[in-house]
Amino acid sequence: MTSTATMLLRRLHEQSQTEVMARARAQFHGSNEEFLTLAEDYDTLAPRLRGRFLETLGLSSEDFESSQGTALSLAVSAETGRFLRNMTLSHKPARILELGSSCGVSTLYFAEALRTLGSGMVIATELDPVKCAQLRDHVRTAGVDVYVDLREGDVFQAVSELDGTFDMVFIDVWANTYLDLFKQTERLLRPGSIVLADSMYTAEDAVRPYKQYLDGNPRFSTTTLDFESGIEFTVVVS
Ligand SMILES: C[S@@+](CC[C@H](N)C(=O)[O-])C[C@H]1O[C@@H](n2cnc3c(N)ncnc32)[C@H](O)[C@@H]1O
Repeated sequence: MTSTATMLLRRLHEQSQTEVMARARAQFHGSNEEFLTLAEDYDTLAPRLRGRFLETLGLSSEDFESSQGTALSLAVSAETGRFLRNMTLSHKPARILELGSSCGVSTLYFAEALRTLGSGMVIATELDPVKCAQLRDHVRTAGVDVYVDLREGDVFQAVSELDGTFDMVFIDVWANTYLDLFKQTERLLRPGSIVLADSMYTAEDAVRPYKQYLDGNPRFSTTTLDFESGIEFTVVVS
């Protein structure tokens, strides 16, 4: 990864973390000391317990998603980003579909890997025009804009306009839309395509219909990676 991209990503991860902590603090009814203790506890929890932990504190990730005020970046963590990058480097996808790009942190990991490979395209999707402008700026700064095709607007509309097949799909929109969106995306998958979905633990209740659909469908082989926010790793079998 170039040093420009590394520095940009470091800044974007820090910003995202600061925003989430500030929003969580504003929603938490307790002292600063209690808040800091809980934040430390959260970091040491097994990933699969994190969603329930947030929920018992009244701090579910879905609240962050739907809350009013300045839109948060809600970027993937640096660990998840490196996982996305490695998946791209090993799978060598010609076409990646990213559903929910925000200001482009996960997009940068995909595009950086494509730059290393020397070919490929990530189709990014984002509704919020401010985030779209930031994404364009970030991929230009990192020098990977030729690997990114941003479709600004509603993700369902964007998917309905796509054709051909995708080698890799990353789902990271609001968790309660995963299943509907996946069903619309199914026609774009081929045997061997990989579908990754974030927040399987941190938004466990909202993503349950998606998980159940995959588990019960022989066309897919799926497992939840016990890692960071919980990543569903699905391979299209037929
Ligand atoms: C969790 S964030 C994505 C974070 C991003 N993958 C990253 O790592 O930087 C989810 C994004 O989905 C976008 N989103 C939610 N519903 C959408 C829709 N119907 N169409 C397009 N984007 C949508 C939100 O605006 C938000 O930026």
